[in-house]
Amino acid sequence: MSSSRTLRSEQWFNNGANPRMTGLYLERYLNYGTTREELQSGKAIIGIAQTGSDLAPCNRHHLQLAQRVKDGIRDAGGIPMEFPCHPIQETGKRPTAGLDRNLAYLSLVEILHGYPLDGVVLLIGCDKTMPALTMAAATTNIPAIALSVGPMLNGEVAGKRIGSGSIIWEGSKRLARRDIDYEEFMELAAASAPSVGYCNTLGTAATMNILSEALGLQLPSFAAIPAPYRERSQAAYQTGVRIVTVVREELKPADIITRDSLENAIVVCSAIGGSTNAPVHLNAIAAHLGIQLSNDDWQRIGHKIPLLVNVQPAGEYLAEDFFKAGGLAAVISELLRAELLPHPDARGINGKSVAANYQTSKVLNPLVIRSVDSPLMKDAGFINLTGNLFRSALMKTSVISAEFRARYLSDPDDPGAFTGRAIVFDGPEDYHDRIDDPKENIDQGSILVMRGTGPVGFPGSAEVVNMRPPDYLLARGINELPCIGDGRQSGTSGTPSILNASPEAATTGNLAILQTGDMIRVDLTQGRVDVDLTEDELQERRKALEVRGGYTYPPHQTPWQELYRLNPSTKQPLGTV
Ligand code: FES
Ligand code: MG
Repeated sequence: MSSSRTLRSEQWFNNGANPRMTGLYLERYLNYGTTREELQSGKAIIGIAQTGSDLAPCNRHHLQLAQRVKDGIRDAGGIPMEFPCHPIQETGKRPTAGLDRNLAYLSLVEILHGYPLDGVVLLIGCDKTMPALTMAAATTNIPAIALSVGPMLNGEVAGKRIGSGSIIWEGSKRLARRDIDYEEFMELAAASAPSVGYCNTLGTAATMNILSEALGLQLPSFAAIPAPYRERSQAAYQTGVRIVTVVREELKPADIITRDSLENAIVVCSAIGGSTNAPVHLNAIAAHLGIQLSNDDWQRIGHKIPLLVNVQPAGEYLAEDFFKAGGLAAVISELLRAELLPHPDARGINGKSVAANYQTSKVLNPLVIRSVDSPLMKDAGFINLTGNLFRSALMKTSVISAEFRARYLSDPDDPGAFTGRAIVFDGPEDYHDRIDDPKENIDQGSILVMRGTGPVGFPGSAEVVNMRPPDYLLARGINELPCIGDGRQSGTSGTPSILNASPEAATTGNLAILQTGDMIRVDLTQGRVDVDLTEDELQERRKALEVRGGYTYPPHQTPWQELYRLNPSTKQPLGTV
């Protein structure tokens, strides 16, 4: 494709007014075989933001898919240039991949700003690759399209579905109960990951990849295709073809990611039972476009939406089943039919409206994708809680089990509320040291509290708020205790924790002055969590904490940890400080 308009890349490669710089820029891009004719042809140069590597196995299949993206770009008349992004692997990065989202974002902004690119294909997958890359596209507002690497195939043992991540939380409980041994636990872990691709549960990766399509940034029906399927490679090719036209049409991220498309994404997140990390990431993406999106918006727009998708951890099935059942297209068509999608006219990356893209899609398996008339759960979105311990904390209602509801939320005189005795842990090590110690007297009336795990305290915010009960309670059939914390929780966890409490303990939040034995009242009907202390008692404890020098947390281990702690926000942090 040649264009009548001057492309951005021509400032580098075709600037007659400055032959010296043009020569300097041009000569080095010739040394691997591109020709001067190509680079000065007025063809769009399309970056491919490569997130796959041996260190990033969830996204590793992108190393293969990139070739099909390039084929598509070439066939449409563009010139592809692939480059590496800072790797982000959710489960392998210590202390937490939460640190890496903003680092990858900053580095990609520099790349998109500083190199001769007219558009970019964002190769997304593992949890934080979608927000990191999308935030960078938002900041630079260079024409962009996203391509998901796709989920893994279903994991299975003896005919039973085994979901990645979720089996770790479930298996840890079985291990603590001694239902399985170490070897059996590892076999389950391995079985959950049978192929290339990201987590096959509806954890943060699947959520963010689906929401990328719901925002309009991926071509319709592409998010759910499993990584090894032929359709995934075909999607890569079509994405490459499309980005060249997106550049020609000057369709920018700010045209696609709007207040309207963000509100659509919130509704979709509730309907799929999406991860509690979604508000953290979507609020940040919005901030980079100058759009204020808050946790209150998530409750206001999302809470009343029913759960339609029966995929782990909120349901039973896995990502491959979701694709075969019709994927996001089927979910959106169902939401459109019930008039639950607030903005059917929002525009997608193919230039068409959501209504035009999805109206005729069908649910192909009603066991996996339910209708609005017979949902898995009504009112399944997040609730945003407040009180005298924090200003804001999120709870994912779609994972409240029948057992949890019966035990804690069904008092006829006080529905939706319960009171418990706090057991306070300072970080994950403290929890592991003490959780099974009978001296802690943890029982059904306890609330497990994890602090020191927010964006500054950890740093990067640890996914540790989902805590299992002690082994002696698990042995008695108590599978869940209420959990509260200033850290995050894995999207693959089925625990209805109260998390991302903000401000966190490390930045003067009142969780810092909580003590084991304090009584906490949780009232989901009123949206409050309060410790049973008077204002005077709270003030006294705050003074005592100040005398001790504030809430202490471990020292930085790397220069980036130090920089992150000084300024945990690129507009908005992982969680709110
Ligand atoms: Fe990377 Fe789940 S750990 S997608
Ligand atoms: Mg995670």
